[in-house]
Amino acid sequence: MSGAKNSALKLMAATVLAQGRHILRNVPRIADVDTMADLLARMGASTTWSDEAAGVLVVDVPETMNAEAPYELVERMRASIVVLGPLLARFGEARVAVPGGDDFGHRPIDMHLRALEELGASFALSHGVIEGRAERLTGARVLLEYPSVGATENLLMAAVLAKGRTVIDNAAREPEITDLAAFLTGMGAEVSGAGSSTITIEGVERLDPVDHSVVSDRIEAATYLAAVGMAGGAISIKGARADHMEMLLEKLRAMGLRVDDGSDQLWASAPDRLAAVDVSTLPYPGVATDYKPLVVALLSVSDGVGILTENVFAGRFRYVPELVRMGADIRVEGHHAVVRGVEALSGAPVRAPDIRAGAALVVAGLAADGETLVSDAHHVARGYQDLVGNLVRLGADVAYEDASS
Ligand code: EPU
Repeated sequence: MSGAKNSALKLMAATVLAQGRHILRNVPRIADVDTMADLLARMGASTTWSDEAAGVLVVDVPETMNAEAPYELVERMRASIVVLGPLLARFGEARVAVPGGDDFGHRPIDMHLRALEELGASFALSHGVIEGRAERLTGARVLLEYPSVGATENLLMAAVLAKGRTVIDNAAREPEITDLAAFLTGMGAEVSGAGSSTITIEGVERLDPVDHSVVSDRIEAATYLAAVGMAGGAISIKGARADHMEMLLEKLRAMGLRVDDGSDQLWASAPDRLAAVDVSTLPYPGVATDYKPLVVALLSVSDGVGILTENVFAGRFRYVPELVRMGADIRVEGHHAVVRGVEALSGAPVRAPDIRAGAALVVAGLAADGETLVSDAHHVARGYQDLVGNLVRLGADVAYEDASS
């Protein structure tokens, strides 16, 4: 199991908060980490793998930096927006290109900006770039209208160097937020309540570099659980955290998957056929939206009808027509997918619309008759260190057709 992509990227952004040499361990070797390293390099920080096999990344942050995230990098990776908070906190200025739409539909950043404004930042949009300024951020009580992961992270990273106390109400509670808070605390920040809906931050004058190990990736763990649910057999997943995926495990158990929690690992085994259940995605501790394509793939071959309701992102069903091409019986109505389980899928050429849907199509291919060819597989490499290698180790017949692409 690798470290979580969605934590590693934010921790890399948070290094900007303190000059010096930071050491990040358990960092996944994925394309999005390379993109964040490119962004840090543009800003003047250097990033090197000191032990690539072990995922040890060293980030050297200089005294002065170029407080800018250009469009070509923000467009490549939307998560680049999380440099906004740290840049404003440390340098009092930031220029970050506005991310465009993506396969999830329009994803605004209004909550990020409003939250930072409450700390005293001001923003102007010019030529597609948000220009932020703040003499010295000042702590405030901020009530988020929705527990947005990115807005909570930007605000948290800004508040640690603000003057006085910040209280974030209706904060996101994801394990990646807790990991970021632990990272910041290691740097000398004063943060309490992370993992709950109220996070309190007492601003400090300066922060120091840190040595930190990234939390394990719950979405990657779920991908391998789905692979076993789909193809049958048994698996042990080292480093997987059952306590970070409780609601999903409850659903998978209700479908008939046997999952046992050992110390620092999960065991799972699948019955001949899973049973359909209804699943709704919600912010943590609910079933994460990122699991959804995996759950839909599982439902597509389960016994019965399952309804999946998406409550986090408006347009995240792009992979459904691909599963239908493989013989799945799925009807999408608004933010619901009604999935009637079929006996078996049939392999077909399909296209990966994003990271998680790409992984779900690979997993669906494991149980389909004949060959499944997933194109646009570069999406999968953005988020998974070695999906193909790990599936092969589990006995699957899967390979990159053209490794260079
Ligand atoms: N939203 C707004 N305004 C904002 C911010 C968010 O309306 O200013 C809305 C979004 O449009 C969405 C909802 O709030 O409908 C939730 O968005 P959130 O901010 O929580 O998500 P995010 O920070 O953009 C992260 C992960 C996603 C994951 C979501 C939900 C990263 C880099 N991305 O996105 O992961 O699906 O949280 O848990 O951490 C992925 O890994 O492939 C991925 C997309």
